[in-house]
Amino acid sequence: MLVHFVTDEPGKIPAIRAMLEPRYHVAARLLGTGEMQISDGVLMVDADLREAARVEQIKNVMLGLHSIAITEKLFVVQSHIQHMVAQAYALGATAVVRSSREIVFKLAEIEVAEKTTKADFVTASPEIAVGAAAFEAMFAAIRNGKSINLSDAENATTQIVNGIAKNGLGGWLDDVRRYHEGTFQHCLLVTGVAVGFALDLGFTYPDVKRLGMAATLHDIGKARIPLSILDKAGRLDPVEEEIIKRHPVIGYELLKDLAGIRPEVLDGVRHHHEYLDGSGYPDALAAGKISDLVRLLTISDIFAALVERRPYKPPMAREDAYKVLCGMEGKLEGSLIRAFRKVALVA
Ligand SMILES: [Fe+2]
Ligand SMILES: [Fe+2]
Repeated sequence: MLVHFVTDEPGKIPAIRAMLEPRYHVAARLLGTGEMQISDGVLMVDADLREAARVEQIKNVMLGLHSIAITEKLFVVQSHIQHMVAQAYALGATAVVRSSREIVFKLAEIEVAEKTTKADFVTASPEIAVGAAAFEAMFAAIRNGKSINLSDAENATTQIVNGIAKNGLGGWLDDVRRYHEGTFQHCLLVTGVAVGFALDLGFTYPDVKRLGMAATLHDIGKARIPLSILDKAGRLDPVEEEIIKRHPVIGYELLKDLAGIRPEVLDGVRHHHEYLDGSGYPDALAAGKISDLVRLLTISDIFAALVERRPYKPPMAREDAYKVLCGMEGKLEGSLIRAFRKVALVA
């Protein structure tokens, strides 16, 4: 679960992170430092409500909320300024918490309520639920220093192929964006797009599965990247960028010795950020060295990343995302971009 922590004191940010991470993802922002786009998770505000300027800034944050997705707005009111409770509710709080202990309990309560809603969804869309559970198992294994079970990846891929075959890509994109966040959302979307692309191109079932497996595992190396970088709302600084760019090699290293791993899946994991003009990473491959499977995967990855719903950015419309791909001809293969048109806009 994502917690947006909004405060007027920089010193409170490390304290809240220490308390809530890694159980929750914390996206922390200082009041008055630019526009905030919050469209998912729980909002937690800890600021001095006696300050008129602070109150104005909080009002702006509340106005910018996408109220459908942000249902819980917690305000932290220190016990010595109890009379600010009314002010917090006037600003739109759904609950007021007074201590660290209360914060932890309240978040646990919200989490249980959310899981119950998700449980209802499991029966409505089992493919997404089972696919997501398989991603969770793989990422958890790696974060705990264990190796992944390839049958989890096979299972996720099969579920996604079935889900796309049943509901089409459009339904899949909408459902995944509604119920998942962060890296899992990204992996489910990329695999869905890649599978939709392969089906549209008339691939045989084994080939659809091969591309699907490469897509399922393409960002597995991100399991070793800190969440503070993966889920950072703003631009990454150069050091963070270097760290995140390691994920294809990390993923390759994690998978290369697994029994039964296919070479084309390893190729996809290591090379999905390569470009035909040689400007990609990690190996700056030239066009001739980039396989067809990788070319398809890279297009699917970029498109899925653009239409993703992030807490700080609404999803880009599919038409606009396709225009971005068209502007990348030279880095991506033109004939494949054109073949992708139907998948991007219609499927
Ligand atoms: Fe990636
Ligand atoms: Fe990716």
